[in-house]
Amino acid sequence: MNEIFSRELVDSVVKEFKIPSLANATIGQMVLVASKLESTTGIPFIRMDQGVPGLEPCKIGMDSEKAALDRGVASMYPAAEGVPELKQETSRFVKAFLDIDLAPTYCLPTTGSVAGSFGSFLICSQLNKKKDTILFIDPGFPIQKAQLRMLGVKYKQFDVFAYRGEKLRNKLEELLKDGDIAAIVYSSPNNPTWITFTEEELSIFGEMATKHDTIILEDLAYFGMDFREDYSKPFCAPYVPTVARYTDNYILFISGSKIFSYAGQRVAVACISEVLYNRSYEGLVDIYSGSGHFGITFTNAVMYMITSGVAHSVQFALADMFKAASDGKLNFVEYTNEYGRRAERMKNIFRDNGFHVVYDKDIEREIGDGFFFTIGYKDMKCGELVSELIHYGISSISLSTTGSEREGVRACTSRMTEELYDVLDSRLKLFTESH
Ligand SMILES: Cc1ncc(COP(=O)(O)O)c(C=O)c1O
Repeated sequence: MNEIFSRELVDSVVKEFKIPSLANATIGQMVLVASKLESTTGIPFIRMDQGVPGLEPCKIGMDSEKAALDRGVASMYPAAEGVPELKQETSRFVKAFLDIDLAPTYCLPTTGSVAGSFGSFLICSQLNKKKDTILFIDPGFPIQKAQLRMLGVKYKQFDVFAYRGEKLRNKLEELLKDGDIAAIVYSSPNNPTWITFTEEELSIFGEMATKHDTIILEDLAYFGMDFREDYSKPFCAPYVPTVARYTDNYILFISGSKIFSYAGQRVAVACISEVLYNRSYEGLVDIYSGSGHFGITFTNAVMYMITSGVAHSVQFALADMFKAASDGKLNFVEYTNEYGRRAERMKNIFRDNGFHVVYDKDIEREIGDGFFFTIGYKDMKCGELVSELIHYGISSISLSTTGSEREGVRACTSRMTEELYDVLDSRLKLFTESH
């Protein structure tokens, strides 16, 4: 065998962390295994597991945080609805890059999109007793399903790859006709496949959301990072595609984590449509004994109970980063395009060694290069591929953990560095010799 990490060593680490099966390991478990193998042997891993930003954090944000702290903001509790500066700059950013008019009132800070989706799942499942299920447009972000399990909220899911374009309409009709879907969640560009929905598909989502009175939770964690288009110019077409053009039933999540490499500071915004924000629901009256107002309940009851507010300093940081982007002084699209360049090189190395891209098409179009891509090898099952790659010092995530119906793994480009491309190539060569 030409493996870099022996079966015995990998097995002992898996046992030490009490991981039932490497084949179905969560992201957290994969991170533990790869880190432990690296630290015990001193041999570096090609870390394609966790989606952590691999770029320097945005300096504008850091400077802004320092200045806010020097002004003494640390002593004050932050208001649930957020500081006016962030609300104003979010509204402007949404206009600049999405061409959507949304007043500052409807733009709320959260401690990352993950907290925003948690609160949204909760409130959406409480609006109407008949609507008790969340629909996942999969493959998706496993953390969000874990949130639903924790909340005890039901979910349905389907792998969207076979239902792209106009086919989406019938599939959604079929799933929505029973009237039990409270909300639909997807990310675009998508974690893990980098599928990016077209305006046509988003118009179908929007039409269905209005028709069946369900809320779209649009996760824009990778905002503007479909590098096949140039979304870098504020207040100029092309604008980032969004469902907000097609329905009033939406919450958009825009995170600072990836676009500004600000993941550690935990900050994002939830942008709620004016109509949804101002709607009242009987279900909320029952639980929160208020007026049942969606926006106020979401802000002051749900999100405040989850996060107890978002630190002032990071709110000012995000406000200033949004401002710089809208002013055309911070080209976050060009900056994050580094991930696209890495993906292109990595995919070529995988392809040259007999691997294939699993989710390879956006309908007719070649899938873009970005933060994630998916790879398969011959007819290997997800679990087998993820476990086998570990022995060659390559960590990834099994697609089976993402609601995918296809065989393969998710690869993240964020931690790739210049010296690792040759290492990846040589390790894949070793892999193919024995597979
Ligand atoms: C689809 C998706 N949503 C949300 C997040 C996390 O966002 P945040 O850091 O703002 O909580 C990620 C990060 O991996 C993601 O892939």
